[in-house]
Amino acid sequence: MTKKPKILAIDTSCDETSAAVAVGTTVLANVIASQVELHKKYGGVFPTIAKQAHQQNIKPVIKLALSRAKTQLEQIKAIAVTQGPGLAPALEIGINEAKELAKKNHQPLIAINHLEAHALSVLAQAKKRSSINLHRQKKRLPLVFPILSLVISGGHSQFILVNQIGHYQILGSSLDDAAGECLDKVGRMLNLGYPAGPVIEELAKKGNQQRFHFPLPMTQSNNYDLSFSGLKTYARNLIEKLENDHQINKQLIFDFCASFQNAVFKHISYKLNKILFDRKKTSPQRKITEIWIGGGVAANASLRKEIRTIAKQYAIKVQVPMSKRICSDNAAMVAVLAGFKYLQKDFISNPRLLDRRPNWPLTQP
Ligand code: KG4
Ligand code: ZN
Repeated sequence: MTKKPKILAIDTSCDETSAAVAVGTTVLANVIASQVELHKKYGGVFPTIAKQAHQQNIKPVIKLALSRAKTQLEQIKAIAVTQGPGLAPALEIGINEAKELAKKNHQPLIAINHLEAHALSVLAQAKKRSSINLHRQKKRLPLVFPILSLVISGGHSQFILVNQIGHYQILGSSLDDAAGECLDKVGRMLNLGYPAGPVIEELAKKGNQQRFHFPLPMTQSNNYDLSFSGLKTYARNLIEKLENDHQINKQLIFDFCASFQNAVFKHISYKLNKILFDRKKTSPQRKITEIWIGGGVAANASLRKEIRTIAKQYAIKVQVPMSKRICSDNAAMVAVLAGFKYLQKDFISNPRLLDRRPNWPLTQP
């Protein structure tokens, strides 16, 4: 049996500088230096500032990850790095660091697609037995495909059919904004700061989601694509009207957040239901065995509830990442995926030539 390799992974795709060490799917350390405070005043990620911060943080973050994993660099079997998609100047820092480390220590280099890492992020397990994934961990249940993975983040919203690890089919994607991006933009209209997704989740808990009625997008289209820009425009017009009518007060903001968040998640669950319904009719012999969710928005309890409600109707189990840190950008998910790639010897043949792929689609090799 091949021994599971110990892998050091780096992710600098957006505004978190992250390094992690994993053995197979077991995460020994996952260090994340967040730049949220730096980007707050711009209401979004400012690429040059992200690059500078990655440059400052990368070496200390790697050092800390190795020390938390009680690992020497020489014990690392391969270096993995996010090659894309992401912000080009940000990706560059992680890639350069990975190349340098791999060269210095004669380790193979593994290039990872950030979306693939999010799509498989539920596989990451804590070293100490945590409550999450305990079921699978305890019984060592094998994975049964196909699995439907939802990546719902600030950059992407996709329904991905996982036929095998490494074999994906995109069933539907957002045609415009990603769900997290839409939450962030509407949150900005309400001066909720950046990123607004988690703030909206908190405020929504005090609100009445029935107070404002948003349209349900794309119900007429016979596909599984998503579109959030109509909801965003509807929200903008409604906020303007409420401002003009001097109706904005604390409770109204709570109600607005609850109603808007509900509209975003209902759109996702409507399309999820369509996928499961159609599949039951057309491919009953290749039933979806599990639903996985990943990406920053997957941390949201209301979204999880919404997805579980739909999945239950089809008797399908929903798996979520072991912690919120594994939902948003992190290198642990990169290290875990790299573990599979290592076993397939999927190494970069000429590391010197490894370059960023800011728009790398999941289905392209
Ligand atoms: O996965 P991620 O960290 O970065 C990307 O790859 O995009 O996702 C960030 C997004 C942001 O839009 C943020 O507002 C959203 O995830 N987010 C949330 C929550 N936590 C983060 N959205 C809703 N509820 C949350 N609890
Ligand atoms: Zn991400």
